[in-house]
Amino acid sequence: MARTKYTAVPLKYKEVEGISARTFSEHFKLYEGYVNKTNEIYEKIANNFADPSKSAGTYSEYGEAKRQLSFNLGGMWNHKLYFGDFEDGKGTKPSENLVKAMTEDFGSFDKWKEDFVATGMAARGWAMLCYGLDDGHLHNVVLDAQNAGFPATVVPVLLMDVYEHAYFIDYGTARKPYVEAFFKNINWDRISKRYEKCTRMHRTWTE
Ligand SMILES: [Fe+2]
Repeated sequence: MARTKYTAVPLKYKEVEGISARTFSEHFKLYEGYVNKTNEIYEKIANNFADPSKSAGTYSEYGEAKRQLSFNLGGMWNHKLYFGDFEDGKGTKPSENLVKAMTEDFGSFDKWKEDFVATGMAARGWAMLCYGLDDGHLHNVVLDAQNAGFPATVVPVLLMDVYEHAYFIDYGTARKPYVEAFFKNINWDRISKRYEKCTRMHRTWTE
């Protein structure tokens, strides 16, 4: 049986305050590219395009496909979260429980935000607020590529794309105003709900 093909989730908005329609439409093409490449690689593997017994760490066709599969899966899922989290975001606030967790792990919401922004200024790809299924705590981590920097057993709660393609059209090389626009528009209701799901996953993970 063939693996089900992935499809890109369409945007439900054209632009948000501080991030233009042009940026979103160009950025969305990249997301679609990751989805298409994921499907293409899985199809190639299913059609025996290369001999798995020749896979090697130095170079092999099979190995390269697996490496790029990981990159494209990351690109697909990271962007799905990122674009979804802008829907109806303006004016929303993080839940009491999420703020409590941020306060416990970072000192306060503002301290969490300061650390998250600094994470984003340092990253070559993404800043990620993630939840550790093992420890039940929040972490801000750098992803230097679509698939690099994810410690195992964490779940993303909030992803901020800081690749230049996310802001270059609107702000040139200035990342900070883009980060501010990001914060004005993210949907904290969705993010708070995701956090609650993580706490439930933590309970079953550590049973
Ligand atoms: Fe991106």
